[in-house]
Amino acid sequence: MSSNLRPRTLRAKLVAGQIVLLTALCLVIGGVAVLALHAFLMGNLDREITNLKPPPPGSPYGAPGLNAIIRPDGTIQGTVELPGWQEPRRLTAEEISALAAVPSGPHTVDLGEVGEFRVVTDRMMRIKGLPLAPVMDVVWQMVWILAALVVAGAAAVALAGRVIVRRALVPLDRVADTATRVSELPLHEGEVALAERVPDEDTDPRTEVGKVGLALNKMLGHIGDALKARHDSETRVRQFVANASHELRTPLAAIRGYAELTRRSAEEVPPQVAHAMGRVESEALRMTSLVEDLLLLARLDAGRPLESEDVDLSRLVLDVVGDARIAGPGHSWKLALPEDPVIVPGDVQRLHQVIGNLLSNARTHTPPGTTVTTDLSVHNGRVDLTVTDDGPGIPEGLEVFERFARGDSSRSRAAGSTGLGLSIVAAVVGAHDGEVSVESVPGRTTFAVSLRTSRRTGRSQQEHTTDPG
Ligand SMILES: Nc1ncnc2c1ncn2[C@@H]1O[C@H](COP(=O)(O)OP(=O)(O)OP(=O)(O)O)[C@@H](O)[C@H]1O
Ligand SMILES: [Mg+2]
Repeated sequence: MSSNLRPRTLRAKLVAGQIVLLTALCLVIGGVAVLALHAFLMGNLDREITNLKPPPPGSPYGAPGLNAIIRPDGTIQGTVELPGWQEPRRLTAEEISALAAVPSGPHTVDLGEVGEFRVVTDRMMRIKGLPLAPVMDVVWQMVWILAALVVAGAAAVALAGRVIVRRALVPLDRVADTATRVSELPLHEGEVALAERVPDEDTDPRTEVGKVGLALNKMLGHIGDALKARHDSETRVRQFVANASHELRTPLAAIRGYAELTRRSAEEVPPQVAHAMGRVESEALRMTSLVEDLLLLARLDAGRPLESEDVDLSRLVLDVVGDARIAGPGHSWKLALPEDPVIVPGDVQRLHQVIGNLLSNARTHTPPGTTVTTDLSVHNGRVDLTVTDDGPGIPEGLEVFERFARGDSSRSRAAGSTGLGLSIVAAVVGAHDGEVSVESVPGRTTFAVSLRTSRRTGRSQQEHTTDPG
């Protein structure tokens, strides 16, 4: 039998078990009752046969039955009559030969046409007998009644059992519901309020379900504590990075200031010193931007809200690509903008940084002569900004959006890269409720940023698409 016919749920298993038990019990009780009834009726029949009065010589019994005699020479002769017959008839040869084989005690013999008879041979060599059919009729009737009772009982147990088992398992369902709700909570990051608990009524340790409920509640308590500890420690680290970056700003500004002062001072300084001061100034600048990046990331991680005003993304892209043309005259810069201005809600400075980082990557991580295409478009209420270059592509296996992830080429080191640029792109786009993705093969690298439009753009875009002229 295939396994999918087996009951699967606990409920079905319990009900099936009840039915099997009930049926087995009924069969045993019924079997014993039928056997006892049979033995009792046979005993009665045997007594009745023994007590049959011998008929006057030459005449048959008054009642139907079998009446024969064994002659001294061993031959048998007699009559048989079934209920409903007008009169007895003589025993046939087959019936006589069947009777001849019967031992003397009470015995059942099949007489063929007239059916089974219970016969007794007495000391006078008389064979007396009565038909067995009335006894067997009663026994079979009993068997059928019992069988019907078993079927009806099994059906009743199936119905009532389902209700009973279902009610008994309701607490288990409640515990399972709690577990399911917890499993759907986003626990992997941030501050998590793990308030879900199994209801008190299902935490009685004297019951089976209560034990599970209690254990689950304890476990949820531990998990809640662990998550809180994780969040606290994350917050402390973030706070530390934010504080450290903030504190570094002032001394860095001082270093830059003094370096600049030295550069501008009228007094001649030896060329070596001038060079050294130039390096100090440029490294201080680099460190300033690193510190600013770290501070921004720490703030975004802490969920600090950004400015949210309508930003004209078309204008912004135009400006940033213009800056890139100046910074990278060796590259070819292409730009595709939709006719209508694209407006997104957001923080103009941070969005400027996003586009700037993407374009500066396309400039610093590709050789001169590379073509960089910036494309801005609106689809289904989302703004898509892509920056594509035909440079060598991103080194394989580099998780570019991870912090401090950078291709280890001497080019990027020389360009003073830190590997924070794309982490900032990802964090800022995330804070704008957007998405960023990258596809890169040698010869084609595309960064795609998708942002919400503000309602104004959506409408103007719709007008634009419904009216192609
Ligand atoms: N357009 C691109 N073509 C090839 N490689 C790229 C491109 N953009 C990014 N990469 C690779 O991804 C790495 C990570 O970029 P990311 O902007 O995060 O850091 P970075 O440019 O190295 O440093 P910075 O913090 O100064 O931006 C780069 O070091 C570079 O190896
Ligand atoms: Mg970069």
